[in-house]
Amino acid sequence: MASRHGSAVRGQDNVPHSSIRDQRFGRMFRNLPQAQFTKDALIGLAQTMFQGEFAERIAEGVEVDTPLNASEPEDENPALPAGFTYFGQFIDHDITFDPMSSLDRFNDPDALQDFGTPRLDLDSVYGSGPDDQPFLYEDDGKHLLLGEDKDFDKRRNGRPDLPRNNATPRRALIGDKRNDENTVVSQLQATFLRFHNAVLDREADQDFPLAQQIVRWHYQWIVLHDFLPRIVGDATYQEVVGGRGGIPNVRFYEAKGRYAFIPVEFSAAAYRYGHSMVRPSYSLNRIVTGAQPSEQPFGSGVAKFHRVPIFSVLNPPAQLGNLNGFRELPDFWAVDWGFFFDGVAPQSPPDGAVLPQPSYKIDTTLVDPLTSLPDHQGMEPELRALATLNLLRGWRMGIPSGQAVAHHMGLEALSDADLFDSEDEARKTARAALLEMHRGIFENNCPLWFYILREAELLHQGAHLGPVGGTIVAEVLSGLIMEDGHSFLRSGRPGGRHCPAPKAVISPSPT
Ligand code: HEM
Repeated sequence: MASRHGSAVRGQDNVPHSSIRDQRFGRMFRNLPQAQFTKDALIGLAQTMFQGEFAERIAEGVEVDTPLNASEPEDENPALPAGFTYFGQFIDHDITFDPMSSLDRFNDPDALQDFGTPRLDLDSVYGSGPDDQPFLYEDDGKHLLLGEDKDFDKRRNGRPDLPRNNATPRRALIGDKRNDENTVVSQLQATFLRFHNAVLDREADQDFPLAQQIVRWHYQWIVLHDFLPRIVGDATYQEVVGGRGGIPNVRFYEAKGRYAFIPVEFSAAAYRYGHSMVRPSYSLNRIVTGAQPSEQPFGSGVAKFHRVPIFSVLNPPAQLGNLNGFRELPDFWAVDWGFFFDGVAPQSPPDGAVLPQPSYKIDTTLVDPLTSLPDHQGMEPELRALATLNLLRGWRMGIPSGQAVAHHMGLEALSDADLFDSEDEARKTARAALLEMHRGIFENNCPLWFYILREAELLHQGAHLGPVGGTIVAEVLSGLIMEDGHSFLRSGRPGGRHCPAPKAVISPSPT
């Protein structure tokens, strides 16, 4: 499940403090001071975020994860099914997708030119359309191409892989290659391809622009009214999204004039909340459950897993030993969405299965596979951990501290004692030692990403984001939809396009 979706985003590393907004990335709190840290202090803080349980369990020869019929109350968040982790990643890819060619990128390395503004418009699904990218479409130029059927239920069939070329490994032919980086996000992409085709056939009478509009509007509605309340909690959802006749109440994210943009406070901190929701391993369907513990390559050895691990760092990775993407989906590996989302019935799951699998809590720990990313193996060991990359990225981007943002929002900031405390004794001791070793560095000066995770952990037991993180995420996502003159929020409003209202939600079948 190696991910490069952060490092490849053009323009993100060069965000001026001026009020210029004619670029993809900008600042939400441009008058707040940039928080300063030292590299060693941030590396130390990241190390207190590693879950660190695998090494012990491997040494003891026991399974590192739990079977499908067991719950893990300390780590799991039953309020948030695991599918929302990857739907969140899918949204991230959609809004940070940079459709410029590598030639343009070469000529404009700092992304100082005008771009297509970020939108929730599913460019990742449609690419630049059937005229520009006909290889994404069937001969009729209307249906999106699908790949080979990989259904686990051969009686029904109909769960395809992404369309792929014949190279080795077989690369996906899709609008945004990042949506093939792991099995779950790649199956979400395949579901959107099928959704478009179903809408085209059943609702749009083969009218491509209408089908595209219906699909985009349903997607935007889901982001705004299903995804957001789950992630930010009801209070923040009501404050930002509800309550003003459907017009978001955006107080801090000002996308003025022609340019909506992605604030670095969102991309380098708040929206990375999703990293803490990632589970170490997943069951995909009733066949690929890993119900019997099996030994899988992991780290420099093997570990016993009940479900399929997100990745291992062995090179080359074992074919069936991880959820790595950028390759043909193995037979029977199609995802049963009942294993990932509520409201979808799973197909004949094993007895006692706890479904949908919950995501992990939004808290200040990241699972072990994320401490050694496969595509960062060439780097120094401490720079292979996702927590370290996030903290260093936020610092390099010059984003303000969590406390500064809280005060700016008119909130009482969490105290240092609360921020660096932990309900886990070992972590509490490690954080106290860290503060002692780097005296003064984190005093009233907490990295925004860490602040947002601790806020969720402390105030909401990891069920959803707190007021600072939730407000940033809700304002940016709803602001992007509001700024888009083609979005469902703007239909019938000044500057908006007048299109038929979306019909009832249509689900691709079979699910
Ligand atoms: C197994 C799953 C995932 C892996 C391995 C992963 C890995 C990464 C990596 C390596 C980066 C670049 C770090 C840097 O150098 O700054 C990154 C960036 C980022 N990730 Fe993830 N990520 C995962 C899931 C998610 C999820 C679920 C979300 C949100 C819901 C998310 C949101 C982001 C954002 C907003 C960025 C920065 C902007 C961007 O590049 O897209 N990621 N991730």
